Amino acid sequence: MHRAAKVVIERIRALGKISDEQGKLTRTFCSPAMRKANNLVASWMKEAAMEVREDAIGNVIGRYVAGLAGRAEDEAKVLLLGSHLDTVRDAGKFDGPLGVLVAIACVEALHKSGTRLPFAIDVAGFADEEGVRYQSAYLGSRALAGTFDSKDLKRVDANGITMAEAIRSFGGKPDALSATKTDRKRLLGYVEVHIEQGPVLEKNNLSVGVVSAIAGQSRYECNFTGRAGHAGTVPMSMRSDALCAAAEFVLAAEHYAKRSSGLVATVGRMEVLPGASNVVPGEVTLTLDVRHAEDSVRERACLRLQKLASEIAKRRKAQVRIEKRHEAKSVMCDRRFSRMLDKIVKQHQGKSIFLPSGAGHDAAAMAAITPVAMLFVRCKGGISHHPDESASAKDVRMAIEVMNDFLTELGNAQAQQRPNANRSK
Ligand code: GLV
Ligand code: MN
Ligand code: MN
Repeated sequence: MHRAAKVVIERIRALGKISDEQGKLTRTFCSPAMRKANNLVASWMKEAAMEVREDAIGNVIGRYVAGLAGRAEDEAKVLLLGSHLDTVRDAGKFDGPLGVLVAIACVEALHKSGTRLPFAIDVAGFADEEGVRYQSAYLGSRALAGTFDSKDLKRVDANGITMAEAIRSFGGKPDALSATKTDRKRLLGYVEVHIEQGPVLEKNNLSVGVVSAIAGQSRYECNFTGRAGHAGTVPMSMRSDALCAAAEFVLAAEHYAKRSSGLVATVGRMEVLPGASNVVPGEVTLTLDVRHAEDSVRERACLRLQKLASEIAKRRKAQVRIEKRHEAKSVMCDRRFSRMLDKIVKQHQGKSIFLPSGAGHDAAAMAAITPVAMLFVRCKGGISHHPDESASAKDVRMAIEVMNDFLTELGNAQAQQRPNANRSK
């Protein structure tokens, strides 16, 4: 096995053991497991000759400085690579860490050959992309992009801990998040390697593919309130059962999404109160996640689903309160970077395809300030957000080789643009 790919897979396995929950992989924003993961990733970054820092929100960032003949390092442009280190509940090991570890492998290759590029490389291990703890995704990348909404600091997790408290106890600085914002003038762009999380590359018998666009997403918290009562004495005709209202809404959302091409709507979590077998449910809180490649379709769907929830609640003499927890618009990947990737992928595997991403990625948040591109890696069985998620060493090797060539090509292009900024070896 190619050594660099073997190291990436070993490191993915090591990170896969760092969890907040016993017996399954769950690593959420600012948790004890995230502390261990950041420390481990920082040690690998240091081995690759990177200067490492942790920013105010808990992103771990390694810098491989530029080789700028006779010029100050702080004049150098910066190419950002990376992905996230948080996971969903009972996650697979590859979603997120693959992108961070492939990036470190590429820097390691540069370091070993004594190569410096005419730009610095920052590798980010983002603190939150999944949004499990606070139902707000891309916290890490939004802080870096300067689009973090400080109102989110007041959100509480399932244990009543505010986001500000969580960041502080992690060692971050919730009052200084604006200082985390990166200098966009110096950024050349952001490139992320990620497991595909779908079946397209596998179906096409390809190791890697280039992402064309990232679908937009909206996430809501819906709270249905009915009237709790005795399961043995309240006649069926006199009930206002919050769970029945919620259940009807779940099926209505499924039905609606099935009728609109490309639309997906998911209720992934539900909390039923008071939660006893002999009590009519009085309150249900559920999450709703809606996605489509076209923002107008998603926005129309969100309005329609909110209306459906109100109609269902009214008919069942219940109330519903709906709060938007997260929204991200769809994002087109940068043409120049994507074409470069496409050309290199063709050189390596003879054929290259562009494919859209239905999943959200840190690249969507970084696109607010810089050109972004993504390389997808084949995903076994298309299975993701599941412990069986897997990518082969052969495909990881392909991703590393494509990214190594991408860095070389971008380095040459930058050196041509600025003749004084020589590639040094
Ligand atoms: C992240 O994986 C998302 O698409 O929700
Ligand atoms: Mn994910
Ligand atoms: Mn991911």
